[in-house]
Amino acid sequence: MKFELMSLPYDEKALEPYISAETISYHYAKHHASYVDKLNTLIEGTEFEGQSLEYIIKNAEGGIFNNAAQVFNHDFYWHGLSAESSTPSVELSDMIKRDFGSMEEFKKTFLNKAATLFGSGWVWLVLNENEKLSIESYSNADNPLRHHKKALLTCDVWEHAYYIDYRNVRPDYLENWWKVLDWNFVADNLADVEIDVTNAYSQPCNDNSDVCDYVDSMQKYEETPS
Ligand SMILES: [Fe+2]
Repeated sequence: MKFELMSLPYDEKALEPYISAETISYHYAKHHASYVDKLNTLIEGTEFEGQSLEYIIKNAEGGIFNNAAQVFNHDFYWHGLSAESSTPSVELSDMIKRDFGSMEEFKKTFLNKAATLFGSGWVWLVLNENEKLSIESYSNADNPLRHHKKALLTCDVWEHAYYIDYRNVRPDYLENWWKVLDWNFVADNLADVEIDVTNAYSQPCNDNSDVCDYVDSMQKYEETPS
């Protein structure tokens, strides 16, 4: 079974004016497609033929790792973007406030890490082993799977992601990339993780859901002197 290029979840023009159809045409149909083709060629007749992308990323080295990781990274990148406006979920917002102080501080830190990553690479929002959010920069194709972290969101800072639209001005690309983020995708990734909800909130829940009622009651219970 060969790996196939994912279907783009929107039209190539969908993210304009922030990311142009020309950029997506090159980035998706040429660069991303090339990683898929190279991976299929490289794994043929090796122990990795027929294995999952995740297995290959965790176990391969060299060209096989690089191309497998780039396929995963680009799949993740495209799914993290949308023309539809969205906002972070209540759970994610609370975790961002807990771990970064505020949404503004989180955005500033994330975009600064992306702007200053030397050379080619990716910046990720991840959930660490201790269930805390963190921003991780990885060079070239390296990614959170390789480091046993749960990926929630990624930004591609290889030049092919922005050079057509923004030339060498990476910060302008980053500001506009932020405008087309699909926060629902981030929330879905977070929902995949079994988080100890009593540990995930530092503030009382601020919506009227059952899970928030539970968290609030647990916090009151824990704060009650025995
Ligand atoms: Fe890319």
